[in-house]
Amino acid sequence: MTSDNRTRVLTGITTTGTPHLGNYVGAIRPTVQASQDLNTDGFYFLADYHALIKCDDPARIQRSTMEIAASWIAAGLDPEKVTFYRQSDIPEIPELTWFLTCVTGKGLLNRAHAYKAAMDKNHEAGKDTDADVTAGLFMYPVLMGADILMFKAHKVPVGRDQIQHIEMARDMASSFNHLYGEHFVLPEAVIEESVALLPGLDGRKMSKSYDNTIPLFAPAAQMRKQIMGIVTDSKAPGEPKATEGSALFQIYQAFASAEETAALAKAYAEGIAWGDAKQLLFERIDREVAPMREKYEALMANPAELDRILLAGADKARRLATPFIRELRHAVGLRPLGLATPSQTAVKTDKPALSSFKQYREKDGQFYFKLVSAQGQVLLQSKGFASPRDAGQLIGRLQQEGGQVLPACAQHFEPLSANATALAQQALDDIRATL
Ligand code: TRP
Repeated sequence: MTSDNRTRVLTGITTTGTPHLGNYVGAIRPTVQASQDLNTDGFYFLADYHALIKCDDPARIQRSTMEIAASWIAAGLDPEKVTFYRQSDIPEIPELTWFLTCVTGKGLLNRAHAYKAAMDKNHEAGKDTDADVTAGLFMYPVLMGADILMFKAHKVPVGRDQIQHIEMARDMASSFNHLYGEHFVLPEAVIEESVALLPGLDGRKMSKSYDNTIPLFAPAAQMRKQIMGIVTDSKAPGEPKATEGSALFQIYQAFASAEETAALAKAYAEGIAWGDAKQLLFERIDREVAPMREKYEALMANPAELDRILLAGADKARRLATPFIRELRHAVGLRPLGLATPSQTAVKTDKPALSSFKQYREKDGQFYFKLVSAQGQVLLQSKGFASPRDAGQLIGRLQQEGGQVLPACAQHFEPLSANATALAQQALDDIRATL
């Protein structure tokens, strides 16, 4: 549990590419802005273990790690205010990956979109189902689950293609919690609806896989040259131009104020020459990017400083990860042998199996939980909570304090008969006795 009331927001960036304008508008800029919210405790990391799944070029991994770290800092991410680190500097992550591997159904991973896409491609090509599929690709969601669950993230901002991975992380957390007690927070995906998808040079979505990107921090002359190459129609200077469907216009809009955008729309209607429109676009982007570019270049020229910043971030992150993995090792039974085990200390050897908490979300968007006996009987049914955290906190309190607190928090539950209350209280006391 976090020691303050801030919402913990965590996201990772795979270190295989060079940040481009699409990444800036779609991820870097909104995330840096959100990280400045005082109610947010931000965790941002370079997912370099994930990068190894997609890329076997060591120089590229290293270069991309540098470029992404320098870009985020140059764009205003403050490593003093957030926790900014390299995944591979946290040895607790691969250890947690293993714990989660052991509670994750293979069938769940079979259903992962990325793995299914790889299988479909093989089928179409008439190849063996798993041709060229590494175990790393198959395990990708588990490593990602470890990233998220390690730091008890409440919210995980991601692209749509990643929603399934967050749901899988929730499944892993529930399975583990069910077997070993409530250790993990169930995370929620956050999809930024308002963020524009930037078109690239050819009008399709800007993406490395289409080779149509404009690097965020290319030298100004190179950026200008690329912008001059954005596709347009063949309308001559003086002919009115349509803003609808114009990649140039859409990119401009992602950088400009409402008034600036309206002014460009007017210029389009009045027949601005494409060359002049492109010059305007270049100038508008460069106005935002130039001050950051200086910082970026200074960082790229000083890798030792980047190493220092990232290692300090890893230190900060490990202050949480190290004690937490100790707690988890203990929970699964990797603990000092001299420690009395529950079965050694228990008076009765055939203790009844424990009831457990089940957390879930309903269609109304609210978070609920119930206490279910080992035989499947629902002993307690909560009312809705606005966040999984609120639900989790009440569960924690019930576990810590046992049945005696039930009357004090009765308003959070569906009404119970006296008899049912007694049963639920007994179940809570039993759980408490095992802590
Ligand atoms: N899989 C994510 C992507 O491709 C990157 C990532 C790795 C991530 N670990 C994460 C994102 C944890 C959010 C949380 O975009």
